[in-house]
Amino acid sequence: MSRTIVLAYSGGLDTSVCVRWLADRGWRVVAFMANVGQGEPERDAVRRAKAAGAAAVVVRDLRREFARDYILPSLKAHAVYEGKYLLATALSRPLIAKHLVDVAQQKRAGAVAHGCTGKGNDQVRFEVSVRALDPRLQVVAPVREWEFRSRAEELAYLKRRRIPIQLKARSLYSIDENLWGLSIESGSLEDPWTEPPADSFRWVNTPREAPAKGAAVTVEFQQGVPVALNGRRLGLVALIERLCGIAAEHGVGRSDLIESRVVGIKSREVYEAPAATVLTEAHAELERLVLDRGLLHVKQAMALTYAELVYDGLWFTPLKAALDAFVNETQRRVTGAVRLKLHKGVCQVVGRRSPHGLYRKRLATYGKGGAFDQSMAAGFIKLWGLPYEGAA
Ligand code: ARG
Repeated sequence: MSRTIVLAYSGGLDTSVCVRWLADRGWRVVAFMANVGQGEPERDAVRRAKAAGAAAVVVRDLRREFARDYILPSLKAHAVYEGKYLLATALSRPLIAKHLVDVAQQKRAGAVAHGCTGKGNDQVRFEVSVRALDPRLQVVAPVREWEFRSRAEELAYLKRRRIPIQLKARSLYSIDENLWGLSIESGSLEDPWTEPPADSFRWVNTPREAPAKGAAVTVEFQQGVPVALNGRRLGLVALIERLCGIAAEHGVGRSDLIESRVVGIKSREVYEAPAATVLTEAHAELERLVLDRGLLHVKQAMALTYAELVYDGLWFTPLKAALDAFVNETQRRVTGAVRLKLHKGVCQVVGRRSPHGLYRKRLATYGKGGAFDQSMAAGFIKLWGLPYEGAA
């Protein structure tokens, strides 16, 4: 079997140690770096991978694909896990896995590797995705196997192996960042009673420090796709980036929750997802305007399933494809605009309109001259309640 292995490389300490550890076990290591909008200077990371012993480094800019094929389906489905997590990290994993497999096939590798621990969801997402895409590939998870029990032990190993690695200043938290959001964990956050300290957030302003004057935002959608922000047409990546800046400035998009992991544990998680929060609110509001009651309610129920599927690492499955087909069918009428106000941490929809809107003022009005024939309501209620007469 080929002794080439492709490692999902982030540039941090763990995956740098993974490079060395795999090389020490006879693997020819190809480090694969995915740019999903984490804003890491690539050059430094490439240098680190090489210093650690990577035979080759492959870098791919996946931001557009991430936005189009992962963020967008999830936005259309309103995937929010346990009511609070907009799934930024979870969505990036199948994309990275897909390219990991692609690079492995290109390089005729026999295996792929990732730097996840054995306690998290990400190992599940990577491995289930890789197996769905190419079951012949072996998967190695060094962090789950190796003997190091702390950062200090990892650093000592690199020192012993005379690997000079310049790492960024260590954050107090474990952070995963991409275009759609930021996941923050560990450090003092491990006490669920402790309020997240100000320094645990990277993007979003503390509401108290946000400008006293809020911001008005208009998002336009075409068949469920956000296409313009404040009247300006933008590609999805640029739109998300720009909206992220605005919402973050106004304190919108933080969440703090106890989360149920796939592997059975509860964990304390803090997230920042400013653009995701605003776009999900806006998109959901537009659907309230254009989808009929029955369809809207079925879709709302499916949002839970969709979120669970993304969280659980089941992206490359027939269920996901079938749900996408349903969701896409619902998006045909989701064209229009939504107005929102962002102010000191609050994101509020204040207006919506669509050429396919089902709102009819002449039916809804309490004012004079409505077209709704109220006399029909009495008969409707009689039949509606018929099965339940005396039921209680
Ligand atoms: N709990 C989240 C998830 O499972 C985020 C994991 C983020 N990883 C990190 N290194 N902070 O999707």
